[in-house]
Amino acid sequence: MINVTKTYLPDKQKYKKYVDSIYSNGWVTNNGPLVKLLEKRLAKYLNVKNIVLVSNGTVALELAYRTLGVEGSAITSPFSFVATSSSLVTNGIKPIFADIDIKSFNININNIEKLIEKDTSTIVPVHVFGNSCDVEKIDNIAKNNNLKVVYDAAHAFGVKFKNKSVLSYGDISTLSFHATKIFHTIEGGALIINDDSLVEKARYLINFGIKNKNEIPELGINAKMNEFEAAMGLCVLDDINELNLERSLIYDFYKNELDGLVIFQEQNCDSTPNHSYFPIILESEDQLKIVENALNKNAIFPRRYFYPSLDTLSYIKQNQFCEISRNIASRVLCLPIYPGLEIKQQKLISEIIKNEV
Ligand SMILES: Cc1ncc(COP(=O)(O)O)c(C=O)c1O
Repeated sequence: MINVTKTYLPDKQKYKKYVDSIYSNGWVTNNGPLVKLLEKRLAKYLNVKNIVLVSNGTVALELAYRTLGVEGSAITSPFSFVATSSSLVTNGIKPIFADIDIKSFNININNIEKLIEKDTSTIVPVHVFGNSCDVEKIDNIAKNNNLKVVYDAAHAFGVKFKNKSVLSYGDISTLSFHATKIFHTIEGGALIINDDSLVEKARYLINFGIKNKNEIPELGINAKMNEFEAAMGLCVLDDINELNLERSLIYDFYKNELDGLVIFQEQNCDSTPNHSYFPIILESEDQLKIVENALNKNAIFPRRYFYPSLDTLSYIKQNQFCEISRNIASRVLCLPIYPGLEIKQQKLISEIIKNEV
């Protein structure tokens, strides 16, 4: 069976050494030494100032809103994983969807300003499939309209924009380190905070709002990463460059094989891709179903990421109709891409698609 992705499991002996250290010091959670070490190493690898590790990418978004005091409504993308919007709803913030650009699949910056309402406080764009948004223009729109920016960078591990980490734009960027991601900690996530003065607040918000022995100044949650997860991250980080190289080869193979037959995501020319996903756009939803069925018959399971478009969700009663997002969502298929996907499997996937389009 070939799934859209496969969790990378690093060398067991190396992981075991970290587990042995946890057993000998007895420190399993609550900002332990491995979490601290991983924060340090990730800050260096990603070239960012402040990183706070948390238990998953969804709470990372929630904590970003809480750290910044986001209220009212937020302009966001309807073409994303459901957590981008559900995290807003959970925190009493109304999502307003700005339709996407048909080529990049990212929020269309020309749709943002006209959607700003009286109570709009924030923009929550997504670097879809690791393709950088137009961060300079978004930051300008935010500045001109006194809005905050939280980037959902769940897919953007290691992505650079004009040679600088894409995570250094906006007020806060959030990452997901779920087992399916290119860098993972089994479950996990992070906040990248650009304003130094907000780091302390984020740290106590992830720990029930407890600032010190005597003070609980804010309503917090429990979003701590544990030591076993940090140990996994430390092992995966050691191998990240080889993993990225393998992904890039698979990416290039599909691109050459399928060129002219399907539509690809247009990459932001100022950003370096991280090859986290390989989305293709088929001619129609009918064609997508034919391709999907043909692959499934061969035990190959691509995924309809992202489907459905979030402006169709019943619990978000916005009466919004994001035509382009719905169109792309109905025709997008993400192909299997992960280190270890053999060349003969890549060929089989490409051949099946070629036969059906
Ligand atoms: C764009 C996006 N945002 C947020 C998340 C949520 O991350 P997590 O699964 O770590 O909670 C995901 C997860 O896949 C995602 O793809």
